Amino acid sequence: MRHLVSIKDLSSRELEVLVDKAEEYKRIFKSQDATEVQRNHLKLLGRTVALIFSKRSTRTRISTEGAAAFFGAQPMFLGKDDIQLGVNESFYDTTKVVSSMVSCIFARVNDHEEILNLVEHSNAPIINSLCNMYHPLQAICDMLTIKETLNYTRNKLKVAWIGDANNVINDMAIACLKLGMDVAISTPPGIEMSPIIVKAAEDITKQNGSKLLLTHDSVQACKDAHILVTDTFVSMGEEYAKEAKLRQFKGFQINQELAQHADSNYKFMHCLPRHTEEVTDEVFYSDHSIVFEEAENRLYAAMAAIDVFVINKGNFEI
Ligand code: CP
Ligand code: NVA
Repeated sequence: MRHLVSIKDLSSRELEVLVDKAEEYKRIFKSQDATEVQRNHLKLLGRTVALIFSKRSTRTRISTEGAAAFFGAQPMFLGKDDIQLGVNESFYDTTKVVSSMVSCIFARVNDHEEILNLVEHSNAPIINSLCNMYHPLQAICDMLTIKETLNYTRNKLKVAWIGDANNVINDMAIACLKLGMDVAISTPPGIEMSPIIVKAAEDITKQNGSKLLLTHDSVQACKDAHILVTDTFVSMGEEYAKEAKLRQFKGFQINQELAQHADSNYKFMHCLPRHTEEVTDEVFYSDHSIVFEEAENRLYAAMAAIDVFVINKGNFEI
């Protein structure tokens, strides 16, 4: 059994397989050929998948429930007020009970430690659906979106992140580097990438020659970039620090003035939900923006994850 905790745990080949599978499921899902659709779905008919979510979600919930339905499984959304967890029952007991009855657990939690605890005690694959450190389903989706828009397999791409050092860029940076892209990350002074991510990133750059730039200079990060990307400045669970963070991020908005330093054909990405402080309407709704294609691709990333980690029990080569 394999779990999906972070892109960091996957080889480049395994990541490529997940992206290719997501691409293939997109084709099948949109196919008008009923026999092809039938051949590929209902592989989990009569089964259930659990979504243990202790935080809000639009895309992750809809995409994982949709992917479960595609394979014939019944998704069960278990929000923090739905089950006994944390109030009347321990994390350990809950994990043992839930994992004894379902095909997999999608888990959206606060601390990364909670994902590791689930992995330790679960009898079913755990698919990290966001924790404070990682968001691997988002990264798989983002790699598919970049592949179909700018084709990183044929073109040398530079991805520039302007924003927080958070869960989304942690997995996205590792994914981009593993697939041979260059990554530039601009964060405000005082906000630095986790040393765990920097070490993992540097190991990859040494192996495959892709480049990582960490800076506080957004113009330098954006220079000739093919992809500009950001996320909220205030992640879920950080609402208490909202005012201080917004002050810290002054000058880190992606706007047309900044975007003019990027490649003339640049694309703008954002995992969503989005706020105007991190990107202006002019960029977010421009022809450069691929945010809604990106959001749709969450569905195919979830299908690929279920295929590999649940149906094929962690075997990437089937
Ligand atoms: N991008 C993302 O994970 O969105 P949700 O929080 O709506 O699931
Ligand atoms: N960094 C954000 C991502 C939301 C999809 C958060 O953790 O809230």
